[in-house]
Amino acid sequence: MKIAIVGAAGRMGRMLVKMVEEKSVAPELEVGWKIDIAEGFDKAWGDDCEGVVDFSFHAAVPELAEKAAAAGIPYVIGTTGLTADEQARIDECAKKIPVVQSGNYSLGVNLLLGLVEQAAKVLGAGYDIEVVEMHHKHKKDAPSGTALMLAKAAKAGRGGGEFVFGRHGETGERKAEEIAIHALRGGSVVGDHTVMFAGDVERIELVHKAQSREAFAAGALRALVWAKGKAPKIWTMKDILFG
Ligand SMILES: NC(=O)c1ccc[n+]([C@@H]2O[C@H](COP(=O)([O-])OP(=O)(O)OC[C@H]3O[C@@H](n4cnc5c(N)ncnc54)[C@H](O)[C@@H]3O)[C@@H](O)[C@H]2O)c1
Repeated sequence: MKIAIVGAAGRMGRMLVKMVEEKSVAPELEVGWKIDIAEGFDKAWGDDCEGVVDFSFHAAVPELAEKAAAAGIPYVIGTTGLTADEQARIDECAKKIPVVQSGNYSLGVNLLLGLVEQAAKVLGAGYDIEVVEMHHKHKKDAPSGTALMLAKAAKAGRGGGEFVFGRHGETGERKAEEIAIHALRGGSVVGDHTVMFAGDVERIELVHKAQSREAFAAGALRALVWAKGKAPKIWTMKDILFG
């Protein structure tokens, strides 16, 4: 299966190219096209391209996804930080092709999403929910797509909630319905996420630490193989890992 990798010169893109070339995860995959504006790589893939994996920049995604939709090939989106307009264009593409979209392709985080939803449901309103993430200093969007997914899982489990992004100045007392999200940046951290449930007599913390970008790349490559021949819609890693 000959594929295109978008953002091929970036941190994730380089890992994806390496893993496909080493045939460590999905031996049937072959790098056909490396696409990246920074390196002046090919801006287009050929007619024999069978799928695309995109870890680039949010503004780049819709045009290329539309090209994949016209060609009828699956598109796996790892890129985060899409605007509402950009997301609406992806939703349109998903009427024609299978699109897999996830803010995090690692097995561990996808397991954590289920645990967070369950914890929020069991613990209820007496436990204040705070999500803290830390990433390397080069990351361009905040909070991370994963932190948003975790906050949404907590909201689903709790049955409601109001997102608060960081705190500054005279904030007043914390409201019970708040689900706060905090983004730290520094050094070379691949991706740390903590979901905290703070009660009056105890505190529970669910923590995930990615140690290598391999965790995301492996999931995204598996997702692309899985998506081939699937129905047009937006699929998530939950569909792929847990059915
Ligand atoms: N979903 C996940 O599991 C997951 C994991 C890690 C990173 N990410 C996301 O993936 C994206 C890339 O992360 P990164 O750390 O590799 O970033 P990076 O900055 O190292 O790499 C991005 C690459 O995309 C290229 N690019 C930018 N605009 C482009 C365009 N118009 N066309 C083609 N290429 C373009 C850049 O030149 C760069 O080489 C980010 O949005 C990040 O949040 C997602």
